[in-house]
Amino acid sequence: MANIVCIGAGYVGGPTMAVMAQNCPHHRIVVVDINEARIAAWQSDHLPIYEPGLDEIVRAVRGKNLVFSTEVDRHIAEADIIFVSVNTPTKMFGQGAGRAADLQHWEKTARQIVRNATTPKIVVEKSTLPVRTAEAMEHILNSNDKGLYFDVVSNPEFLAEGTAIRDMQAPDRVLVGAHTTPSGRKALEAVVEIYANWVPRERIITTNLWSSELSKLTANAFLAQRISSINAISALCEQTEADVTEVAHAIGMDSRIGPKFLRASVGFGGSCFQKDILNLVYLCEYYGLPEVAHYWEQVVRMNEYQEARFVSNMLSAMFNTVAGKRIALLGAAFKAHTSDTRESPALAVCRALLDERAAVVLSDPHALDNARADLGDQAAQVIFEPDPYAAADGAYAIAVLTEWPQFASLDYEAIFRSMVKPAFIFDGRDILDHRRLFDIGFNVYAIGKPPLVHFNSSTPRPS
Ligand SMILES: NC(=O)c1ccc[n+]([C@@H]2O[C@H](COP(=O)([O-])OP(=O)(O)OC[C@H]3O[C@@H](n4cnc5c(N)ncnc54)[C@H](O)[C@@H]3O)[C@@H](O)[C@H]2O)c1
Repeated sequence: MANIVCIGAGYVGGPTMAVMAQNCPHHRIVVVDINEARIAAWQSDHLPIYEPGLDEIVRAVRGKNLVFSTEVDRHIAEADIIFVSVNTPTKMFGQGAGRAADLQHWEKTARQIVRNATTPKIVVEKSTLPVRTAEAMEHILNSNDKGLYFDVVSNPEFLAEGTAIRDMQAPDRVLVGAHTTPSGRKALEAVVEIYANWVPRERIITTNLWSSELSKLTANAFLAQRISSINAISALCEQTEADVTEVAHAIGMDSRIGPKFLRASVGFGGSCFQKDILNLVYLCEYYGLPEVAHYWEQVVRMNEYQEARFVSNMLSAMFNTVAGKRIALLGAAFKAHTSDTRESPALAVCRALLDERAAVVLSDPHALDNARADLGDQAAQVIFEPDPYAAADGAYAIAVLTEWPQFASLDYEAIFRSMVKPAFIFDGRDILDHRRLFDIGFNVYAIGKPPLVHFNSSTPRPS
């Protein structure tokens, strides 16, 4: 039996440790956090995050071999293996502001481990970190005067919110990186052994420390790049009457390209893509590679362009003014099946429309509390309405901003009847049946598709 501690009970720490506990009944796992409200929520019937399948697993293992606690120091002292899953947001001050990773939580954690340890430990980087962070970690951890040696292992997390449980249960791969010294190899094997309880060995990849750290940033950069690439093409489609869904399908059938992550949209969001690419950009600049930095930065710029373009399209379609107009935004989460609104394009669109003095109504099945918190002072200007029908009632326009499947099957005839005419619908996720909406009477604008509008000469007129 090993005493496993995870520092950081967030979107990664909570679900990963719950699945680990379920698959390793012989290990004792404690998830600690300094955020008391968060830990209290993990201990309650209302978990702090919405993630399909999470409630059931937590209910099954909590109190058995999974414990949530705020006693960080005590559990560090008792641990054999410590996963560190604290947040590593973009640094917003000083050198590297707006790009570099803010490693203050990470360093505090390292110092806390040293302070409380009385036995050697394996410290596992689960957070996403700049390449070579482990070097700094080792310096901090092993500069102790207790004669303790700490091994640092990199084990980046590849789960995606919305499918976190499935991704953890059956990952494409688990990546573990460590030094190739005897001690490093032993530490690596200890981490591999944990995953081998439920992940087939051939899916557990081992590399050197730096490859492992850099692979996580690279994976996110490549995933985001595909979205920005298809979004760039969506802009061209709108000018040329090509249809981005057809283009994506045609290129995705090429086995060298593949069909995934080719869905055009209002843009990517989430806490990771933007911050990790900006971190990659910063690292490239730091290592004297401005051309490489510039190349990756464009992925983020294209995403910002796509969000801005979506709002511009709304404005120009709605006669260049939305001031005072009720607009229903369907979706606040950055993607479907999560309550997370960090860097959500929905909130970027919401803010831009508020700047245009629109009367914004925001609707989402799970993310309204987070949206309210993220919007800060601007939240006072927004109506939060969980019911999409109530949100659309009296609206001039609807914009679909999160691909929640339920938004595709709403009764759009009833919605159309309740709206101000001419009624507009902007599909930022291309999940609706555009032809049908047009036939109902909507003016339909979808990403990367020719608009379907009733204002031209071919508009059918009543006889
Ligand atoms: N969210 C994702 O989908 C995802 C996926 C893969 C990797 N990651 C990476 O995992 C890391 C964590 O992400 P997250 O989304 O879980 O973040 P999060 O903000 O949801 O959770 C981090 C938690 O760490 C806690 N924390 C910070 N400092 C602490 C300290 N000194 N002691 C104890 N607790 C402390 C915070 O209170 C917070 O609850 C990040 O580096 C992120 O890039 C995230």
